[in-house]
Amino acid sequence: MGWNNGLILIFSLQFFLSNVYCLHRSQFKPSFLFGTGTSSYQIEGAYLEGNRALSNWDVFTHTRDGSNGDIADDHYHRYMEDIDLMSTLGVNSYWFSISWSRILPKGRFGDVNQAGISFYNKVINAILARGIEPFVTIHHFDVPQELVDQYGAWLSSEIRKDFGYFAEVCFKAFGDRVKYWTTFNEPNMVTKLGYMIGMHPPGRCSQPFGNCTYGNSSLEPYIVAHNIILSHATAVDIYRKYYQAKQGGHIGIVIAATWYEPLMTTTADILVAKRAMAFNQYWFLDPIFFGNYPSVMRQMLGPNLPTFTPEEKTLLKEKLDFIGINQYTTTYAKDCIHSTCVIDAFDGNALVLTT
Ligand SMILES: *[C@@H]1O[C@H](CO)[C@@H](O)[C@H](O)[C@H]1NC(C)=O
Ligand SMILES: *[C@@H]1O[C@H](CO)[C@@H](O)[C@H](O)[C@H]1NC(C)=O
Repeated sequence: MGWNNGLILIFSLQFFLSNVYCLHRSQFKPSFLFGTGTSSYQIEGAYLEGNRALSNWDVFTHTRDGSNGDIADDHYHRYMEDIDLMSTLGVNSYWFSISWSRILPKGRFGDVNQAGISFYNKVINAILARGIEPFVTIHHFDVPQELVDQYGAWLSSEIRKDFGYFAEVCFKAFGDRVKYWTTFNEPNMVTKLGYMIGMHPPGRCSQPFGNCTYGNSSLEPYIVAHNIILSHATAVDIYRKYYQAKQGGHIGIVIAATWYEPLMTTTADILVAKRAMAFNQYWFLDPIFFGNYPSVMRQMLGPNLPTFTPEEKTLLKEKLDFIGINQYTTTYAKDCIHSTCVIDAFDGNALVLTT
């Protein structure tokens, strides 16, 4: 549903711009970045080549309806063709992610895979040679299955060490050329889709949010988010201490930022729109800016929301050079505390209406 709304917005904006304004590249400074974006699992394929190990997505898709990323766009073999296409398009930036299990097949419990490093070196060098600036996402939804098997990946605080290690391997290998790092792409979607409604791996949830074999939708998303937020802080801390000064880059995070409007101009709906914003995006951004979760989340979730220790709060603060926003759509929010409705997302007891 979100996608449809997003597409309508893009098409109508295009219609509006082409009929009224006629934008041209020349109206933007040459340094303004226009780009394309991908994620490793969605394009690379070659899921068992070059010593790559299985990720959570390989394992998940292989138990579902037969669609998977085994081959995908075969970018692993056809990357040069893809990069030439981008060059023809005239873009000057390219945002892509690194497959964790291609670089570290066993996480921090095994060796760095030189074949994986070499693949991304070829991609980075080829785009730079065409005047395209690399923007690299360290985590775009995929985790080595090894870490799921060893300790449950994002459900365990162990993952913070693994993510910090993975990020450091990336800074060390690519940071001489990559100047824009994104720690996580849409961690709020990783959390909600994987642990609240169970649509993405590991497919965990509980009623009434979804029908999964395992999971707890009112508890696990908050544990997972907590570990992601602290993993972000760990990676940024490593970058700031050991790499940023010498490599001269920037590091940030990208959030799926849905905007919520009150359905009616009642106090209850105005408040629920604010709560939905908190439960969707300030959940991740407030800790990174201010060192703590939004107060409305703390009030509503009580002991189900983990807390930060004083040391963690210090580690967290101002851990951003930029914020990335993926904005697909705006939705209406209807209060479900003071009126009866079936909640379809746990955005602060809001019924989120996408039509
Ligand atoms: C939940 O899943 C089980 C097993 O797949 C199925 O038997 C059951 O009908 C489902 N329940 C609902 C409410 O969808
Ligand atoms: C989820 O966890 C909470 C807090 O521990 C507990 O009260 C609730 O019963 C659990 N729900 C399920 C479905 O296991």
